[in-house]
Amino acid sequence: MSSSKYSSIHYNSYLQIDKITSAQTLRSDEVGTHAHDEMLFIITHQVYELWFKQINFEIKAIANDFSAQTVNEKNVGIAVARLGRIIEIMKLLIQQLGVMETMTPLDFLDFRNYLFPASGFQSFQFREMEVMLGLKENRRTTYNDKPYHCVFATDKKEKLENLESSKSLFDLIEDWLERTPFLDFGEFNFVAEYQNAVTNMLAREQEAILNTDILSAESKQMRLSMLGDTNTYFANIMNESKHNELIKEGKLQLSYKATLAALFIHLYRDEPILHVPFQLLSKLVEIDDHITTWRYRHAQMVMRMLGKKIGTGGSSGHEYLAMTAAKHHIFADFHNVSTLLIPRSDLPVLPESFRRNLGFYFSAMNA
Ligand code: HEM
Repeated sequence: MSSSKYSSIHYNSYLQIDKITSAQTLRSDEVGTHAHDEMLFIITHQVYELWFKQINFEIKAIANDFSAQTVNEKNVGIAVARLGRIIEIMKLLIQQLGVMETMTPLDFLDFRNYLFPASGFQSFQFREMEVMLGLKENRRTTYNDKPYHCVFATDKKEKLENLESSKSLFDLIEDWLERTPFLDFGEFNFVAEYQNAVTNMLAREQEAILNTDILSAESKQMRLSMLGDTNTYFANIMNESKHNELIKEGKLQLSYKATLAALFIHLYRDEPILHVPFQLLSKLVEIDDHITTWRYRHAQMVMRMLGKKIGTGGSSGHEYLAMTAAKHHIFADFHNVSTLLIPRSDLPVLPESFRRNLGFYFSAMNA
C-alpha cells in the first residue's frame, strides 16, 4: 500500500477543465442570433485574463522579495528570471492579437451590440498589473474626466486604491537602487568623475564639429547648438536640485540617487557584481517596451475593427488607446539612462581597491 500523503488525481480534476470549458456563454446564442466568431472573442479574452493572472503572480512575488529592508542578493537573480518569464508571456500576448484579427470587422458586428457596455477597460487584472508595476493615477490619460477605477464595484475599487497606496515595483526598485553602496566609495566619487568624463567627451565632440571641413558653417552652428542642449540635459539630470524640480514638474519620476545608481550599473556592467543588476534594469525596460507594443497593436486592431466608432466602454476608441500607448510608460526613466551613457573609452577608471569589490570573491583572491 502506498504511504503517500496525497491521493492520486486526474488531469481533468487537477486543472478543473470542466469549469474552464463551460465558461463560454455566447450572448448571441442567448439572444437567438448565433454569431460564429463570438466563441473566438470570448476565448481570446479569457486566455488573456489567465496570462494576466500569471503575470500578476510573478510581479507580486518579485515585489515581496524587494520589500525587504536589505534585498537578499539571490533574490535579484530570481527576479531577473521571473521578469524574463513575464516578458515571454507578453510576447505571446502581442502575438495573440493576430488570432483575434482573424475575425473581420463585419463578423464582429454580428455580436458587438450585445456586449454593450462591457469593455477591456473593465479588466481588473490589467489594472492590477499596471498599478503593481508603477503606473500612477496622475499620469494616466482619462476619458470622460473619470478615474479609471470608476468602472469597478466598491470591493475592486478599494483593492486598486490599496494597491495604489502601496509600493509598486517601480518604487521598490527605486528604493533598492538608492541603497546601492557604490556611488561614493572612499577615494572614488562617481558623480565628480563622471561629470569630468562628460565634459571631456563633449569638448572633443565640439572640437570635431569645429574642425571638420565637410559641414557648412550653418550646419556646424546647428550641431553646436544641439550639443549645447545635450550639455544642458546632462547638467540638469546630474544636478540634484534641478533633478528634483523636474520630478516636481512631472518630467521625471526616478529619484536623483536612483538615477545615479542605474547609470553606474549601466556604465560598469562588465564588472561581475553588476551583471545581474544590469539584467534586472534591462528587463524592466523590456517589459515597458512590450506593454507599449501591445497597446499600439491593440489600438491598431481597434482602428481596423471599429474605424472611428467609439468603444463599447464609451471612450473615443482608437484615439484614446493610441494616447495610452504614447503616455503610459512606467519605466521611461530607465530608458532615458541611455542618454547619459558615454563610450567605454571615456569611462573613469575605477581605483583597483574599489574594482576588486565589484568582482567575485574568487577572482578578487587571485587578482
Ligand atoms: C475585436 C477586438 C477588440 C476591440 C474592438 C477592442 C476595443 C477596445 C476599445 C475601444 C477600448 C477602449 C475602451 C472602450 O471605449 O471600450 C479597449 C480597451 C481595452 N481593451 Fe480592447 N478590444 C478588443 C480586444 C481586446 C482583447 C483581446 C483584449 C485582451 C484582454 C483587450 C483588452 C483591453 C484592455 C486591457 C483595455 C483597456 C486599455 C486602457 O485603458 O489602457 N481588448 N478595447
